[in-house]
Amino acid sequence: MARLGTETAFEVLVKAKALEAQGRDIVHLEIGEPDFDTPRNIIDAAVDALHNGFTHYGPSAGLMELREVIAQYVSDTRNVDVTPEEVVVVPGGKPIIFFSILALAEDGDEVIYPNPGFPIYESMINYVGAKAVPIRLREELDFRLDVDELASLINDRTKLIILNSPQNPTGGMLEKNDVDRVASTIGDRNIMILSDEIYSRLIFEGEHHSIMSINGMKERTILLDGFSKTYAMTGWRMGYGVMRPDLAAHISRLMTNSSSCTASFTQIAGIEALRGPQESVDQMRDQFKKRRDIMVAGLNNIKGFSCRLPHGAFYVFPNITETGWPSKKLADALLDDAGVAALSGTAFGAFGEGYLRFSVANSIENIEKALERVGSWAKSNL
Ligand SMILES: Cc1ncc(COP(=O)(O)O)c(C=O)c1O
Repeated sequence: MARLGTETAFEVLVKAKALEAQGRDIVHLEIGEPDFDTPRNIIDAAVDALHNGFTHYGPSAGLMELREVIAQYVSDTRNVDVTPEEVVVVPGGKPIIFFSILALAEDGDEVIYPNPGFPIYESMINYVGAKAVPIRLREELDFRLDVDELASLINDRTKLIILNSPQNPTGGMLEKNDVDRVASTIGDRNIMILSDEIYSRLIFEGEHHSIMSINGMKERTILLDGFSKTYAMTGWRMGYGVMRPDLAAHISRLMTNSSSCTASFTQIAGIEALRGPQESVDQMRDQFKKRRDIMVAGLNNIKGFSCRLPHGAFYVFPNITETGWPSKKLADALLDDAGVAALSGTAFGAFGEGYLRFSVANSIENIEKALERVGSWAKSNL
């Protein structure tokens, strides 16, 4: 258990709530979930499903009706032929990370993962006893990964490479050329890719490029996607993986051994999410874009902060090295003194030092309040 890490966002949330309980006013920019409600048509579909008997166990890999819809959706959006046998529905995107690493890596293996990156990758790699090999995401590359550097990290023990685009926490996005070069770098080595594409519908500029779309890569890729971020369904717990049928059978067996199945009525709602009107997704994305613009412009006006424009997801990741403060200390001071909850870049790995992550999944009013508070804190303390 000593090897298992965690996700600091939940810890900062607890601390911020404790301050609120003491009467403090806190602006929450720490947690990574849309502040919008789940669209009404999806909620109605779940309520109907409850009334229609979807209250029982279902197949471990997910209801066939939903797996068919997901297979179609992934075929359309990634330009590959996907069958329902290649889809495993799980409670959130996270279990695909958990199960894939558990299934593919062990003592003596190496797994390459983005750093700064979603902390569960590093946590799980360490947990299974494999070696966690970070690929540093650099600000000067707009937080895309450097494929030459990736090539230098690959060796005979490399079992798995984790990609995440659009990326948490940086908002970086892989370009077509990047995924092409990652695929050719791997060549015919026996290496799998876990491609975390949970933010693929939250893109402000440019297009989403999945490594799964590249000729010959589908068999080597486990695609992770889900409902949490796209449809504001974080609390519903539903996501999925797309992978070769032989691997899908193993991941399903891990489901049988852990959760048995994803809740049945939520899966019926998942069909409505993918098949129903998509305007709410566009509206949420447009809102996030507005907020991102305000946040980035505001941060760039604050002494010691400089912030690139993230192209996807709903986070901004300013460089704070000019403040002279270490990231964790600065995040703590902003919470304690200014009432703004943000995360230290180091919550996303050692290469997050020098950065903070602010989520823009909050109202413009609150984002402006946060900017004002951070600005006046900087004036008095820097
Ligand atoms: C990159 C990334 N992958 C996966 C997840 C997990 O998503 P879910 O809540 O659906 O488990 C998150 C959530 O923050 C994330 O940022």
